[in-house]
Amino acid sequence: MPVEFLGIAATGDGSETSPRTTAAFDRDYTLRLARAHEEHGWDRVLFAYGSGSPDPAPAAAFLASKLDTLQILLAHRPNVSYPTFAAKTFATLDQISDGRLTVHFITGGSDQEQGREGDFLTKDQRYARTREYIALVKKIWTTRERFDHEGEYYRFQDFVSDVFPVQQPRPDVSFGGSSDAAYAAGGAEADIYCLWGEPLARTAEQIERVRQAAKDAGRTDTPRIQVAFRPIIAPTEELAWEKAHRTVDLIKARIGGGELLPRAKGADGGWAPQNTGSQRLLEIAAAGERYDRALWTPTAAATGGAGNSNALVGTPETVAQALLDYYDLGVDILSARGYHLLDDAIDFGRYVIPIVREEVAKRDAAKAAARERDRHQLIALQA
Ligand SMILES: Cc1cc2nc3c(=O)[nH]c(=O)nc-3n(C[C@H](O)[C@H](O)[C@H](O)COP(=O)(O)O)c2cc1C
Repeated sequence: MPVEFLGIAATGDGSETSPRTTAAFDRDYTLRLARAHEEHGWDRVLFAYGSGSPDPAPAAAFLASKLDTLQILLAHRPNVSYPTFAAKTFATLDQISDGRLTVHFITGGSDQEQGREGDFLTKDQRYARTREYIALVKKIWTTRERFDHEGEYYRFQDFVSDVFPVQQPRPDVSFGGSSDAAYAAGGAEADIYCLWGEPLARTAEQIERVRQAAKDAGRTDTPRIQVAFRPIIAPTEELAWEKAHRTVDLIKARIGGGELLPRAKGADGGWAPQNTGSQRLLEIAAAGERYDRALWTPTAAATGGAGNSNALVGTPETVAQALLDYYDLGVDILSARGYHLLDDAIDFGRYVIPIVREEVAKRDAAKAAARERDRHQLIALQA
């Protein structure tokens, strides 16, 4: 299976290491960053969702109308809209982009962040609602007859949409989360299951959980797996490690100076994220700084395990080989975002993506040849 690369769409140029110099929504920057991805070998970019951030759906429509091939992964929180409305928005976006949309459904890992937009359900309730919501969006995308719905979280009557996606039967559904409730909901509904980069052994564990959850939900297929990292590359190993330490120093200085929003704090004043995914990242960081070929955890520790935050450090060759280790584990989609969004998207696209694609093509060819050999042996035995 060819590997896919997911980069980041952003409407402004800030990151953990540098304050934003653009407006929160800067048309030119938004387009420049996405175009850099399109021109440097990436398949798709993620529009993340945050309570105060520019709305990613119109931003995605803007990009889709300006670019020809780049695909879009649109993050969406069910609490901010009604599923009938959301399904039409997504179908319209799939039309605007001529079939380049995937929707990433976000349940929400922090009560505080959810409360900012009026969502006061518990996390388990939120996952149950996400599950009903995704099932409804899928049904609306594929149903040509009017229908009623009476569920736990939504009730409506006599609805049919007049706009349908270009992709048939429907666009893919992407999903993330590392709690038991997340595996159950995503295992049942997701086409793509997203994980934050962890050591290989822990990633293998999570892949197994996802596969089991899909089986438990009665599926015969399994979600494709996506894993996300923060690559830090340089021409030599030494320069890459210098850059990695500089990166963490910058993050710490910005947090110390109060420039980055502090994350949730526990009773002891330490970082206390509520979502299991971030708790896992902190636990892994507390147990060690380096894992496997190039995984480095101080970037995750410094940000309180804030989402995609574990780094892969080294030369492009080292980082490419590290990514291939995840491909060999069963990962289909590699997600990467640097700390200087634009320059790092170009460098990663230029120097890392080609190596990974070439090696994946070799592995796939070897597998195809082995299958062909087996087939011939079988024919010979039967003759
Ligand atoms: C790849 C990926 C991207 C995510 N993007 C967002 C996002 O843009 N906004 C957000 O609030 N949460 C985002 N999340 C958070 C999850 O959707 C989910 O709400 C959270 O991780 C649930 O926590 P859990 O690990 O306790 O199940 C993302 C998660 C993953 C794995």
